[in-house]
Amino acid sequence: MSRIEDLFNRNRIWAERIKEINPDFFLNLSRQQKPEYLWIGCSDSRVPANQIIDLPPGEVFVHRNIANVVVPSDLNCLSVIQFAVEVLEIKHIIVCGHYGCGGVKAALSSENHGLIDNWLRHIRNVKRLHASDFDDLVGEEPTIDRLCELNVIEQVHNVCATTIVRDAWLRGSHLTVEGWVYSIKDGVLKGLCSRGPETLDKDPGDDRGAVGEISAVG
Ligand code: CO
Repeated sequence: MSRIEDLFNRNRIWAERIKEINPDFFLNLSRQQKPEYLWIGCSDSRVPANQIIDLPPGEVFVHRNIANVVVPSDLNCLSVIQFAVEVLEIKHIIVCGHYGCGGVKAALSSENHGLIDNWLRHIRNVKRLHASDFDDLVGEEPTIDRLCELNVIEQVHNVCATTIVRDAWLRGSHLTVEGWVYSIKDGVLKGLCSRGPETLDKDPGDDRGAVGEISAVG
């Protein structure tokens, strides 16, 4: 059996297994999706959204890209956020980074990676914005991991600054935006920050406002 055929085989077994437990599972899902969470995470194969928080299909709306970056000019990501907030009316947006992120690591190196360096520029900007946070760190791993955390917090800030989220809060939504970091080494999540409608009172242009609030939330 080829590797691709094997995937179809695995799919059939998986679908049968779920139907054995709940015969109507797929029928019910086909009628509607009503997830409460939007997950914005890294494309890294070791950080699959549903599995990490142990939720079945239908529970998490997902957007993933390299190093979980939210850029105000990225129509793809903004469209996902708009659909999630305005149509699905999700209750929480989770930005989840992970320690040892390859995208963050690449952003710290001076090597030429080609086109992707344009994307990694966003992460380099996070480092530049918080340069003093790295003064006391010794070695590559602590530096990468610190930038992984700061990147999450900055992307939470970017989500909160979108017109989509701000408009939702202005309409009275209690939507929250969560910043998490995941450890590939032990499979455990850590909460870094949590934002809600009170964020509207802060200046959306204040890019330094997000820092200093790293504290264990989860
Ligand atoms: Co990554």
